[in-house]
Amino acid sequence: MAFVGAVVPDRLCFLWGVASWGYLQGRPLAVRMFNNHHDSRVNTGCRTNIILRLTNFTEYITINSVIWQMRFVPLNCIRDGSHLAKTIYGANGEVLLRGGTELSSPYIRRLSRIGLQGVYIADDLSEDIEIANLMSEELRVKVLKSIKGALSDAERGKPSKSNRNAHAMEELSMQIVDEILSKQSVVFNMIDIKTYDGYTFQHSVSVAVLSVLLGVSLGFKRAKLAKLAYSAIMHDIGKVFIEPKIINKPDKLSQEEYEVVKKHPANGYAYLRDHYGMTEISARGVYEHHERYDGCGYPRNKTGTHISEFGRIIAIADVFDALVSDRPYRNGLFAAEAMEYLMGNSGRLFDPVYINAFVRKVALFPVGTCVLLSNGAIGLVMENYENYNMRPLVKVFSVDDCRIEPYTLDLCHDFNCLNITVIASVDM
Ligand SMILES: [Fe+2]
Repeated sequence: MAFVGAVVPDRLCFLWGVASWGYLQGRPLAVRMFNNHHDSRVNTGCRTNIILRLTNFTEYITINSVIWQMRFVPLNCIRDGSHLAKTIYGANGEVLLRGGTELSSPYIRRLSRIGLQGVYIADDLSEDIEIANLMSEELRVKVLKSIKGALSDAERGKPSKSNRNAHAMEELSMQIVDEILSKQSVVFNMIDIKTYDGYTFQHSVSVAVLSVLLGVSLGFKRAKLAKLAYSAIMHDIGKVFIEPKIINKPDKLSQEEYEVVKKHPANGYAYLRDHYGMTEISARGVYEHHERYDGCGYPRNKTGTHISEFGRIIAIADVFDALVSDRPYRNGLFAAEAMEYLMGNSGRLFDPVYINAFVRKVALFPVGTCVLLSNGAIGLVMENYENYNMRPLVKVFSVDDCRIEPYTLDLCHDFNCLNITVIASVDM
């Protein structure tokens, strides 16, 4: 137990309180705060649904705290009265639905209309399910806004502003890297919530985070990771030069349309070199993110290690995130299913060394998802262990369709659990 403080820069005030419920990675799991301005007591960190309804100050603390208690629930399984645990952002980084909102049928229908298949909620089952955010919401919103600005400038052919965009992007790339490196355990452990109209921007952020994780796994240093993040954020900027009706076409592209789409890596490379002064190492990542290990990719049919490191990394991150994302014409795959696709194409489409590194960095069953075990039990994933992503810590709450008093099974460290495996993610 210790006193801690938090500065709220945009409101120029200082909050203080007492850390409680223990620490993780050197940060308090929760802090009982005393709000200097409103003289009211608020909890931070753990009980998101309570925190967000109390005061604006608490949102800052929530988005900057490392731990949230919540679980991922498909929309069709959400009951009226559940509380949204994580704020939903739109294409411009604007708040669509604030964390803490009590979900009713109209809200759930609205979430479905904007393209969400599920959201994080806080309920009795999510107690003890602590999810560490690799990147703060504050930074995510900043990056989303910058990407949108950069893309619309490119669309309108406004190169004069691009230098400013370039500086902003380089700075944000470094911040992404610093936030990820500040975590002791860097495993991609969350399900990204993407809206239909925000997909392009939200996908770019996810690809950057996944690429940096892979870069960390490969031993890249900070400066190189920042160049990788920059390249990944901008990897699809060349698409703005292609007609939207082709880019957004849900059906199979004609050969002619496909030839047009295949130009976007080269267009992006040329634009970023000319208007952003992007370094060759970063720009090559943009140019080669659709090349494939066996030479079947585009635009230049490069093979193996003739494809740049950044190109091979972004290719993996790009495909993984596209597969797990919900699109208007199909639901996203579970992380485990997407990983199966990548592993099945290791050495063919993707660099096998990089796939091995990627598998260790991405949770197959992210924390807060519901899983079916081989012994018939159903539980929530509480923790994933780096390098052992198939054997998480699970909070079992149902056996043979009967709710039971929850207990935990450590599939990684408990010898009595060695014969139990995770069969699949389940909706509940
Ligand atoms: Fe692309």
